[in-house]
Amino acid sequence: MQANALIMKEGMIELPKMRIDIFTLFPAMFLGPLQESILKRAQQRGTLSIILHQIRDYALDRHQMTDDLPYGGGQGMVMKPEPIFGAIRSTIGTTGTPIILLSPQGRTFTQAIAQELAQQPRIAFLCGHYEGVDERVRQHLVTEELSIGDYVLTGGELAAMVIVDAVARFIPGVLGAASGAHDDSYTSGLLEGPQYTRPAIFEDWSVPEVLRSGNHAKIARWQRKMSLKRTLERRPDLLAGEALSPQDQQLLEEIQQDLGEPDEVG
Ligand code: ADE
Repeated sequence: MQANALIMKEGMIELPKMRIDIFTLFPAMFLGPLQESILKRAQQRGTLSIILHQIRDYALDRHQMTDDLPYGGGQGMVMKPEPIFGAIRSTIGTTGTPIILLSPQGRTFTQAIAQELAQQPRIAFLCGHYEGVDERVRQHLVTEELSIGDYVLTGGELAAMVIVDAVARFIPGVLGAASGAHDDSYTSGLLEGPQYTRPAIFEDWSVPEVLRSGNHAKIARWQRKMSLKRTLERRPDLLAGEALSPQDQQLLEEIQQDLGEPDEVG
């Protein structure tokens, strides 16, 4: 883990708000994504500490084998239990830290799970590879299994990065106060509406008049309406689970009426 100033080694942690331990056979995969932008700043500030552990360092034999043939035959290799137990037990001990296995068989990761995980002082990720991990790891070590979607990746590393990124956004101080993750699409239950910046007119396309009106109540109403409209168009399933206020109901009626009429958004 040389050339890795931000992703700290064990023993260098100064009271971070959250510590994430990642157990992997491919730690180098994490170096770019976790050392840029918001995650980089969070680690520099000490709000977040991410520590990578090479599972191979805990292999017991002289060839440092971490995988072996499956009992009962079949395709591919299975990750051996001893290096994984050794790595996680010696690092996590009995701290009660959630140990999350990334696998396509896990519960599907959501924004709500990100928010929940962000409450923990420490979490650990185990990145599965090959045909999977020995079942005893699942039964006796891992506390939860997460998937990032119904497709199969070559390993859990990319999934761990996705989850770390989404969780970190909920740690206080990681995002600026003005743009916390709590306002995001999915956290509020609705998709965000369209956003614009300068110039007011780009080529032939102008920013909706209302956004330039300076009338904050009107702007807030328009933004809520656009958020409802976008959710209705793209993710009607999200609307079904929302408790909508009488004003939201009124906005939805307006949206239905607008259908067929010229679009407000342009
Ligand atoms: N490993 C392989 N595929 C995965 C997925 N979809 N989610 C999490 N971990 C995985």
